[in-house]
Amino acid sequence: MNANTTPASLPGQPHIAYANDQLMVEGVRLSDLAREHGTPLFVYSKAAMLSALAAYQRGFAGRNAQICYAMKANSTLAVLQVFAEAGCGFDTVSGGELARVLAAGADPAKVIFSGVGKTRAEMKQALQVGIGCFNVESEAELDVLNEVALGLGQQAPVSLRVNPNVDAKTHPYISTGLKGNKFGIAHEDAMRAYRHATQLPGLKVIGIDCHIGSQITEATPYLDAMDRVMDLVSDIEAAGIPIQHIDFGGGLGINYNGDTPPEADALWAQLLAKLDARGYGQRQLMIEPGRSLVGNAGVCLTEVLYLKPGEQKNFCIVDAAMNDLPRPAMYQAFHQIVPVSPRAARDTQGSTLYDIVGPVCESGDWIGRDRQLRVQAGDTLAVLSAGAYCMSMASNYNTRGRAAEILVDGTQAHLIRQRESVFDTFALEQLV
Ligand code: LLP
Repeated sequence: MNANTTPASLPGQPHIAYANDQLMVEGVRLSDLAREHGTPLFVYSKAAMLSALAAYQRGFAGRNAQICYAMKANSTLAVLQVFAEAGCGFDTVSGGELARVLAAGADPAKVIFSGVGKTRAEMKQALQVGIGCFNVESEAELDVLNEVALGLGQQAPVSLRVNPNVDAKTHPYISTGLKGNKFGIAHEDAMRAYRHATQLPGLKVIGIDCHIGSQITEATPYLDAMDRVMDLVSDIEAAGIPIQHIDFGGGLGINYNGDTPPEADALWAQLLAKLDARGYGQRQLMIEPGRSLVGNAGVCLTEVLYLKPGEQKNFCIVDAAMNDLPRPAMYQAFHQIVPVSPRAARDTQGSTLYDIVGPVCESGDWIGRDRQLRVQAGDTLAVLSAGAYCMSMASNYNTRGRAAEILVDGTQAHLIRQRESVFDTFALEQLV
């Protein structure tokens, strides 16, 4: 943002805006929340989540589609509850996520289980609760799932995750659809894997799925992946194996820093046109969006502890760190950082270029680099686009308790996770 002006609303975040020089999430002032609950503090807008979901729902109007929120993006119970109450299914990747989402009220029949390394115990847990589908990622996994299902006298519903070998054009750590990635079954091996699956009595083949990466900002990789998957569906069905549903994974990006991903409804208008043209538009469709449902619904509030001017760099040291906001350290990710109560130009000398860093003892512990800010110690800053892959990836590194979380609904602010105390962080340990 321009250091001398206060924008009324923030790009891509219609429910997070300034009013009377105060940053608000819906009808709640963030400075009030920081005062009442302390910092670091995550604050989410329920309306922002629901409007992101509505874009997908509009895109799929009149279709047989199931949206399975990829809960790894933000797995806090009350966030899951918002999506469960809105009719979503869920994409899970561990027995832990499965237990969590059921505790939040999800319908197990609308839950799918992805991931390359499911354990027997997780498979058993998922079968016992009546999960909707396993997204299987290897032939070896098919064999183990077959055994576990037969042991329970059940048939496991399966989809095979195929790797379409398309470049999602995103950060290499979050690109998953290329041959060199550990994910999915290679396109050329898919037919064999399907034949194998149909021979196993403990499995019932119901679908096909793919997921090519995350923070995708163009339609082309999706369109290419869709072509590749359609080719496979036609081969598999020609071999006499019916495919009930087609799952296109997640991956749609959000606006972090002027990024211009397509809107979910516009993207799906394009994708559905292609599906219709190829005769698959009336199939059961599934998708697994994560970031695009929650990313821009959340901010992380942090207090400025110290300003530390230097010869080469000025540091703005804040109380949030890489344990709360791991994305910059892990992916050199950009999050906008703005003041919660902007200072008038007359308050200070002017704005200064800062690296905004946390208290953790690592040079990689930075939240933002080269940011123009007008701040003083004690000010509260908001790190934007912090709804996805922040709290769910938070750790206790440096024995820092994890932050508290608030869900805003109109003018109401609900505390949905208490701040973790230092005692909580070592409660499960014991001296010898
Ligand atoms: N489905 C599968 C099988 C996935 O692996 C993922 C994300 C998703 C769906 C949801 O993708 P989304 O719609 O959120 O892009 N921690 C990284 C992102 C890792 C994504 C992992 N898989 C980050 O902070 O950028």
